[in-house]
Amino acid sequence: MTPTLVASPTALPPGGAELARGGPSQRSMSPELLKIEDLHAWYGESHILHGVNLTVHEGEVVTLLGRNGAGRTTTLRAIVGLTGRRKGSIKITDIEAIHLAPHKIARLGVGYCPEERGIFASLSAAENLMLPPTIAAGGMSVEEIYDMFPNLKERSSSPGTRLSGGEQQMLAVARILRTGARLLLLDEISEGLAPVIVQKLAEMILALKAKGYTIVLVEQNFRFAAPLADRFYVMEHGTIVKQFAQAELTQNMGMLQEYLGV
Ligand SMILES: Nc1ncnc2c1ncn2[C@@H]1O[C@H](COP(=O)(O)OP(=O)(O)O)[C@@H](O)[C@H]1O
Ligand SMILES: [Mg+2]
Repeated sequence: MTPTLVASPTALPPGGAELARGGPSQRSMSPELLKIEDLHAWYGESHILHGVNLTVHEGEVVTLLGRNGAGRTTTLRAIVGLTGRRKGSIKITDIEAIHLAPHKIARLGVGYCPEERGIFASLSAAENLMLPPTIAAGGMSVEEIYDMFPNLKERSSSPGTRLSGGEQQMLAVARILRTGARLLLLDEISEGLAPVIVQKLAEMILALKAKGYTIVLVEQNFRFAAPLADRFYVMEHGTIVKQFAQAELTQNMGMLQEYLGV
């Protein structure tokens, strides 16, 4: 396996993300890794998700777009069991997870990277990396992780506080890779980072996709997500209002402008 990352996503032709994985026929053949049907979720008395339907096939990169407060973070948190009451269906590898506790959902191979990256300031990068247990077979070894993120190797003994925002973000993702998760739920990973770092994160997403990971990207940064995603979902008021494939991006730009102001 090549440790370094693949070509810049901006260099992809329209529909390039889809071509890169063998075209639509291959996609429709790959099994559903995540299938959410009529998902409702609450925080206390607040009813936040109102019947979300979303499917992610194995090996896909799917992006969940929406304005602030649309319910994207809540959707990710509901998948991993971190909201209050949930209703509906969340199937992960065909196993119904709607009533499962978070640690059992993690064992199905789901890794959640929250917006606040959760890097411990007083621990070194290496200690942060080693924190979570292996929960599923096939987790990346530390060597593989350092191959993929040479920066983290160089900074392995630096305390969490000394890492740049980009390094912290990569560490937060790397930590999930160690657990053996194959479905990655990444919340606003590009937020607040310089364009050159955002480019590195885009390369990371493509490298993970090439390794067969399945990724749900919650993004405010449309330019970051657009070339990476095989399919797009648009959320508003706790429900999915649009969905379309990479090949349909151009014809959906007007609609996106309306919904997101991009
Ligand atoms: N812990 C919480 N308790 C109550 N309401 C919440 C909580 N977290 C988020 N919300 C509300 O849920 C809605 C969706 O929020 P969120 O999922 O964070 O949106 P997004 O990630 O799309 O910006 C918002 O109206 C927000 O105020
Ligand atoms: Mg959010």
